[in-house]
Amino acid sequence: MEQWSREKRYQKFEDVSPETMAELKKQIDVSAFRQTYHIQPQTGLLNDPNGLIYFNGQYLLSHQWFPFGAVHGLKYWFHYKGENLVHLKPQGPIIKPDTPYDSHGVYSGSAFEFEGQLYYMYTANQRTASWQRKSTQMLAKINEQGDLEKLTTPVIAMPPKGYTQHFRDPKVFQKNDRLYAVIGAQRENRTGTVLVYEADHPESTWTFKGEIQTDLNAFGFMWECPDYFQLNGKDVLLFCPQGIESEENRYQNIYQSGYIIGTLDFDTLHFEHESFVELDNGFDFYAPQTFLDESKRRVLIGWMGLPDTQYPTDNEGWAHCLTLPRILTYESGKLKQKPHMDLRKLRHNKETALGYANKFIKQLHPYEGERYELNIDILENEASAIEFHLRASKNEATVIRYETATRRVILDRFDSGQLPYPVEDTVRITELSSDLEQLRIFVDTSSIEIFCNDGEKVLTSRIFPNPQSNKIKVVTDSGQVYLKMTKYDIIVDENGAH
Ligand code: FRU
Repeated sequence: MEQWSREKRYQKFEDVSPETMAELKKQIDVSAFRQTYHIQPQTGLLNDPNGLIYFNGQYLLSHQWFPFGAVHGLKYWFHYKGENLVHLKPQGPIIKPDTPYDSHGVYSGSAFEFEGQLYYMYTANQRTASWQRKSTQMLAKINEQGDLEKLTTPVIAMPPKGYTQHFRDPKVFQKNDRLYAVIGAQRENRTGTVLVYEADHPESTWTFKGEIQTDLNAFGFMWECPDYFQLNGKDVLLFCPQGIESEENRYQNIYQSGYIIGTLDFDTLHFEHESFVELDNGFDFYAPQTFLDESKRRVLIGWMGLPDTQYPTDNEGWAHCLTLPRILTYESGKLKQKPHMDLRKLRHNKETALGYANKFIKQLHPYEGERYELNIDILENEASAIEFHLRASKNEATVIRYETATRRVILDRFDSGQLPYPVEDTVRITELSSDLEQLRIFVDTSSIEIFCNDGEKVLTSRIFPNPQSNKIKVVTDSGQVYLKMTKYDIIVDENGAH
């Protein structure tokens, strides 16, 4: 492992020559794990998606970025732009750590439109001489020349009384003609919560309104990356609690990302809600953010990675990617997540097949590949359990297993290739509320996203198999299944330069 001195971690992108950056880029371009249709760092480390918005006919998206290697150093926002959600073009850093307030990182935040103008609110991270953390919330806007202009002082200068400096990730939204920001926070008793601020203009005073009052009063030590929105008249609060103990098949990852749904009273901030539900049941998912697409659908994009974990690409000088965009809906009392329709633009070479599978493992022809969308309809199921082996070879396979009696879907990464570290266990298990009828699976060079039953459950994971592991196989424990499979190669043409 490369050693990172504090000096190197806090080096500025502006101080490094384009030649050095080109050299770094050349090094990572030869990685066998570079993705093709997922947003990944040009160099260095990517984490949270930031500032997602559809504005003036374009999708704008940024991500947390440390340019020089796979460590969490001095953070920038790296920016992308495009006319749809799959052909986004890199634009370079957009918000830079160039004020005393954000001297130690431009942390996560959001975008919003106000009176036709584009604004960003983000957390400015500062370390004092004695390395004490100081968090303030800053505002930036895109001026008439199209340049980013920061307000010279923070719009929220410190956390309110009773909260620590773990105070970050403002998500701004408009409701009843008022502006609100939800901000992740930690109480002085070291429990996590979400705070609400209010303003009538982005550049006027932001007033502290209070905490969102939930039933989760001692649910982890910090809540990061909150988001609030409505779906079908229901209020939804997303957040990422840190410090939750795992319980059977729940909360298996180091940190969680999930939601509560119900009714939030904006006068009292009392939230009448159902229990906390994890958004994703895979290995690698964190810090999602939502926005409205051009048809006002609620779209979610997450970070396909986790803090405090080493990944196999770290020693290649880069780490992580974003998830694919998903549409959130609320149907028959359930939040569902489905792949965004823009992903259809990437489909090539459709292959369909209809047939039985049984306990003799069957390798599918001509079904193979490293990058594809695979849709499986389970038309009849008399098997006790079904397994789909993807990215498979003699020695490797990423296994999706469905156990009929318990309706459990199990993702097994044991034989997937190289593994992140330290990660609890090599399986992730989730239970469906009805029989498994359909899977939509997106495989890229080093990731898999599995949507079960029209988006009831999603499992998202990085995998690091050998490039030669490209087979697709099906097998049952006993009994047979009748399947319809549709596979599309995913090819990004020159318009999609991730
Ligand atoms: C979540 C997070 C945020 C913070 C950012 C810093 O992954 O820790 O809370 O703003 O990453 O990169």
